[in-house]
Formats: sequence, C-alpha cells, structure tokens
Amino acid sequence: MSYPDARGNPCSSNHRAALDAAEQALWRMMSFYDTPLADLDAAMAADPAWMLPHVMKSGFLLSLTEPALVAEAAAGLETARSLARNATARERAHLQAVQLVAEGRWQAACRLWDELLIEHPQDALALQWAQLWDFYRGDAVSLRARPARALPAWDEGDPLYAHVLALYAFGLEECNLYPQAEDVGRRALAIEPRVPWAVHAVAHVMEMQGRYEDGAAWLRQHQAQWAEGNGFAVHLWWHKGLFRLEALDVQGVLRLVDSHISGDALQVTLQRVDAAALLWRLHLLGEDVTGHAAALLARWPLDDACAGHYAFNDLHAVLAMLIAGDVARAEAWVARCAERALGAEDARRSNHLMAREVGLPLMRGLLAFARGDADGAVDLVYPVRASAQRLGGSHAQRDLIDQTLLGAAALGRRRNLGRALVNERCMAKPVTPLTRLWIEKLALPEQARA
Ligand SMILES: [Fe+2]
Repeated sequence: MSYPDARGNPCSSNHRAALDAAEQALWRMMSFYDTPLADLDAAMAADPAWMLPHVMKSGFLLSLTEPALVAEAAAGLETARSLARNATARERAHLQAVQLVAEGRWQAACRLWDELLIEHPQDALALQWAQLWDFYRGDAVSLRARPARALPAWDEGDPLYAHVLALYAFGLEECNLYPQAEDVGRRALAIEPRVPWAVHAVAHVMEMQGRYEDGAAWLRQHQAQWAEGNGFAVHLWWHKGLFRLEALDVQGVLRLVDSHISGDALQVTLQRVDAAALLWRLHLLGEDVTGHAAALLARWPLDDACAGHYAFNDLHAVLAMLIAGDVARAEAWVARCAERALGAEDARRSNHLMAREVGLPLMRGLLAFARGDADGAVDLVYPVRASAQRLGGSHAQRDLIDQTLLGAAALGRRRNLGRALVNERCMAKPVTPLTRLWIEKLALPEQARA
C-alpha cells in the first residue's frame, strides 16, 4: 500500500506517530538540532513493519563518515531489506542508494537520488543526502543544480522549504555565485531563522569575499540559532576561527579553539577535522600548537582500520600527527591509506579514486613539508591543486592547500610560485591582514602589496 507523506511522497506507512517521528528526524538531519536517532527509534517502534526509518538510521550513521559506525549501518540495512517487500518504489530507491553508500560507491548513490528526485522533487531526504555526498565528493555543480531542479516544485509554506533554500544557497556559493548565494541564504533565514545551513552558506560567501569582519558579525548575529544544541556548532565556530585568522587575531583563534573546538565539543571525526585544519593554519604561521594537536589526537580513534576510509578525513588526521611532531605515525598512516586505495579492495569505492588522484599526493607533500623539504612539498602538492575539489569539502576547507603552498614557498626556493598564488588571492578578494602577512613572508616586491 502507498500513502502520501507530509509533502505527498509515496510512503508505505500510514501510522501517524511513525510518520510524525520520521518527519521530526528528517528536520533534525536538515537542521542539525540534536541527532535524529531517538526519533527514528520511535518511528520504528510505532510501525515495526515500515522500512524507511531503518534506511534513514543507516544513512545517518554513514553520513558521519565514521568507519566504526559502518557495521551498525550495515545491520540496519539488513533489517531494512527484510522489510522491503512492503515498501514503495521511492523508499526502495532510498534503500538502494544507502546500500551503495555503505559499499563506498558515493557517486552511484548520488545518481540514484538524482533519478528519485526527478520523479519526487519534494523528497527532502533525497535532497539532503545527495547534497551531503555531493559535498563529500566535491561535486560543486550538483550541490547547486540538484536543489535548483527541485525547488520550483516546493510549496513555500512547507516547514522544510527554508532548509531546501539553504541547500541551494550553499551550492551557489560553491559554484562561486556569491551574490546569488547570499540572497538565497538570507531569504531562507527570513522565512525561518533556525536554519544553520543557511547561516553557514552566507558565512562561506563572506569568507570567499574576504569580508572577515562582516563574517564574524554575521555569525555573532545568528549565534543563538546555531551555537547551542546543534551538531553544526563546531563547524560554525571553525568558520569564526577563519574570520579571526584572516584578521590575524591569533590569540582570538586560540581562544575559540580552547572554548569551542577541542575537548568534549569534538564528538565525531567531522568535528575533529575542523580542529586539525585550524591548528594547521596556526602551525603554518609559526604558532606552537603542538600540545593542542596532541590533545586532539589523544581522543581521536585512529587505528589502522580507520585509515583509507575517506581521504579528506585521512588528510586531516595527518595534519594533526604532523603538528604533534609524530612524523613516523603520519608516514605509517599514509602507507596504510595507500595500501587500501591502490590495493585489491573494491575499486568502485569513491574514496579510492580521490585518494589516488588527490589525497595521497597531498599527504605525501605534507610529509615532505614536515621533514623540512619545502620544495619537495611544493612539487607534490602544486600539481594536484587544480583538481583538489575531488577531495571533497568546501573551497574554504581546501584553502589549507594554498596556505600550505604559501608556507612551503616562503620557506623554500619557490618564491615565484608563492607570488603567483598571492596574485591569485589578491585578484579574488581584498587584501586581508593574513594575505599581507604571506606577502611579507614571501618578501614580495612592493607592487604586489598594492
Ligand atoms: Fe563550511
């Protein structure tokens, strides 16, 4: 049997309590207010024969990119398969897509969600998850185009409409369409202030445009909506850290790290990578954050089995190890990542392609940098810079690649490359105190300082 859900999508449950709990879980996934797990358990309890909540739970666990959660997600999918006979075709498409994610085939999963959305453009779950795995794959065009294809089918009165606008705003930003992105993000927040993804999209615009004071003020203005009880808070504190860093307020960044981007605040790898990234930027500026990195690593489960799960996370683990001064551990980690990406494991895993093409050269470049071979680091990192989006993450996150190249250029002999990168930076956005510092470190001629 098929019943319409809250926005008319075909659904195999007509149990009100189960549908309400699943809808609440969906809102939590899009808004990051608490995890959706309790709501999904409630949906399963209310209608034990309904498959979709099991798929949602497995998909949520996999979305955290934690190797340790893969087994639990796989068990949930097994239960889901046992209930699939009663499910609608749309729900079975979700099952198939999440199964592909579990197999590491992220691109294939996104293609399935794409097909699903052509038929059901109001399927918010498909929009949310496709955006997440588009993000993990660095597919900026799909981040923008997928919500654009669906949005006209949405009712502006739908409680999730502002969240879909936020997806679109972030996609626009990652496609460098900054004024449009800011407009759409602000529109989302005018409809519903509790949409951290929209706050985030506009913060990205400000980051990319060098508006570091605007950005800090923007996050402060919306702080009540994202800083408490929200799983996205660490990432937005990280963005605030970037704004402070752009102003060269190093002590301000350290205060943010100590109060919001360390210790108990870091519950999952996605949060730990932000901490590592910010510490690396400070490390490049000569700040001693060895103790911070050691504390981060002490609570970061990084056994051998974790290496090679997702290149973006692997790279950030290497950053933390190198700041902490443990080059040997970082070398062993990179070797294990290479073993998986180049070995006999399923070659269709999205990670392995991104690791081979981008992740491994970058990590090897970082190792060279840590060994004091600045020119060797440039030789490894610069060739993959142009395709670095394949690593996933945002432009702002991947800027650590440029920061690393600037640091290596300043220490080694590749000053011309450093000048070229600073030129690119100055053409893209106003010169900030951080850019000015790189100009000084590279000892560029006066005309480059204009
Ligand atoms: Fe971000």
